[in-house]
Amino acid sequence: MKKMKKRRLMILFLTFVMAACLFLASCGGPEPVPEEDLIELTLEELAEFDGQDGRPAYIAVDGAIYDVTNSTRWRNGKHNGYTAGNDLTEEIKTISPHGVSKLKTVPMIGRLKE
Ligand code: HEM
Repeated sequence: MKKMKKRRLMILFLTFVMAACLFLASCGGPEPVPEEDLIELTLEELAEFDGQDGRPAYIAVDGAIYDVTNSTRWRNGKHNGYTAGNDLTEEIKTISPHGVSKLKTVPMIGRLKE
């Protein structure tokens, strides 16, 4: 009887550890793109990456370019009335409820050309 209780406690503990690991892994955000692989786009070039018709969806904030192509929140490059392919610095800071905090959940893939 005592043995059964011990085993159950062990299984509970291991489940807890696994859940904690999964949680921490998902908090880390995407792997950073190495400096040499970062792309550079002008605002005009960025406009092509609007997520429409199968094109990738990129957004710019504070001079950095983020890839939201695989984000379920940015389907077809659209997110709560905003469209990919644009510099959304003002909008994310002043209108969105989350501010810039959500940017760490998507990969930073490049920088805007001056
Ligand atoms: C009124 C405007 C907006 C609303 C109501 C809104 C709302 C949301 C919500 C509810 C989420 C999901 C939060 C979560 O999973 O914890 C989200 C994610 C996100 N939002 Fe917004 N948002 C707005 C504007 C913007 C703008 C202007 C940007 C521009 C850069 C932006 C970028 C993002 C990003 C990058 C994510 C994370 C996507 C992901 O993890 O896949 N949002 N937003």
